[in-house]
Amino acid sequence: PKVRALVAGNWKMNGLRAGIAEAEAVGRALNETPAGADVMICPPATLLGPMVAALGDSTVHVGGQDCHVNVSGAFTGDVSAEMLADAGATAVIVGHSERRSLHGELDRDVRAKAEAAHRAGLSAIVCVGETAGERAAALTQTVVSRQLAGSLPDGARAANTVVAYEPVWAIGTGLTPTVEDVAKVHAAIRKALVARFGAEGQGMRILYGGSVKPQNARELMAVPDVNGALVGGASLKAADFLGIIAAY
Ligand code: G3H
Repeated sequence: PKVRALVAGNWKMNGLRAGIAEAEAVGRALNETPAGADVMICPPATLLGPMVAALGDSTVHVGGQDCHVNVSGAFTGDVSAEMLADAGATAVIVGHSERRSLHGELDRDVRAKAEAAHRAGLSAIVCVGETAGERAAALTQTVVSRQLAGSLPDGARAANTVVAYEPVWAIGTGLTPTVEDVAKVHAAIRKALVARFGAEGQGMRILYGGSVKPQNARELMAVPDVNGALVGGASLKAADFLGIIAAY
């Protein structure tokens, strides 16, 4: 069976209340012309509540960008998966390369966060991907399979787990791998998911992320085992994001 795609926008640390108008415009457009994929926006935590309210009964899902592993407690500055769910989020990104590199998150931390997401009833969007140096050393497959093995919890299911392959060197750079390279990595990820999770692994969505734009979305999204996109910069403007969604 064909896996329904997911196009998720990661706003990162961008967006003030005024920016919610962009999310509303996406919601309105999809009410008129329903998307061929599930659509999600992951704004900064400050905008989660207002964005959920503004989107009303539109089909656009809202997600967090990170979560703490604990439910609550003395963790100044952190936000729990339960808090994200309470604010109306249905998913959370974990292990984004910016969290791994700027906050020292290791595979075991990412795995614990994915478990926390599941405990709170959220889907976990688990990010993996090699750096430029690792790619140059021909370590892409090695790194991605190590990250996958270490970052996915045993309880992962098709309904609560999404893998996002984001080559670090392609993030925010305008560079993208060739469709052949994307196909190779996604096929290897699918193989690993099926080996570990069986039929559930067959149904898990594998997103591509890294400089996805309206101009390249169609060819990237047509690659076998690419079940959607994790979009950074191009998710901030409704017109660009809708241009990518239109690839489905
Ligand atoms: O999570 C999103 C990615 O890091 C991709 O960002 O689309 O700006 O390259 P980008």
